[in-house]
Amino acid sequence: MRTSLLALCFVLFAYQATSSVILDTEGEPVRNAGGAYYLVPVSDELHGGLRPAILGNGATVILDTNLTHGVPVRFSSPLRIGIISSTMLLNIKFVTDLPLELVWKVGPEAPVGWTVNLSNELPFMGPFRVMPVEGGYKIAHFQDDIVADVRITHAGGFYRLLLQNGDPFIFQIKKATESSAKMSIV
Ligand SMILES: *[C@@H]1O[C@H](CO)[C@@H](O)[C@H](O)[C@H]1NC(C)=O
Ligand SMILES: *[C@@H]1O[C@H](CO)[C@@H](O)[C@H](O)[C@H]1NC(C)=O
Repeated sequence: MRTSLLALCFVLFAYQATSSVILDTEGEPVRNAGGAYYLVPVSDELHGGLRPAILGNGATVILDTNLTHGVPVRFSSPLRIGIISSTMLLNIKFVTDLPLELVWKVGPEAPVGWTVNLSNELPFMGPFRVMPVEGGYKIAHFQDDIVADVRITHAGGFYRLLLQNGDPFIFQIKKATESSAKMSIV
């Protein structure tokens, strides 16, 4: 009895040590499959907001330095848990009035170096995790055994989101109010 209680304590401790609840800028837990949140860059060089963009032959995610907040996103996991934690695999999609899903998606093959594009389909289980780092959060992409960070790289005149190891895009999560979210949608 005592042993199993100890074991349980250990498991809970280990869980707490590796999993943390993701908080918005007001200190409130970020909701699973609810709300709309801006990912605000934490950087001396980067500012602006994320938005969908049609570049070349694909719809992709960029940081637009002309915008204050950009277009908000929603995180979702099929787990029946109301809030997001750093161990949950997530879908990320833009929250807009458009009649199509704008789901973040990385190409089907070796994910490192691939841009974060947009898809109309919401997979059952998403490939992303939001993880705490110094100064804020980063997004990591998990596919099979390959883990890569979502990073921002300036290429072809745009700040694009792509997968790379190291130097992640660091951001804080700011809850969008209904009116600010509507205004941000172009
Ligand atoms: C992703 O979008 C880029 C354009 O920004 C495009 O060149 C590329 O083919 C797209 N990749 C996939 C897998 O759709
Ligand atoms: C920002 O605004 C400038 C000037 O209007 C424009 O040339 C540029 O393409 C805009 N940037 C983006 C990412 O839309």
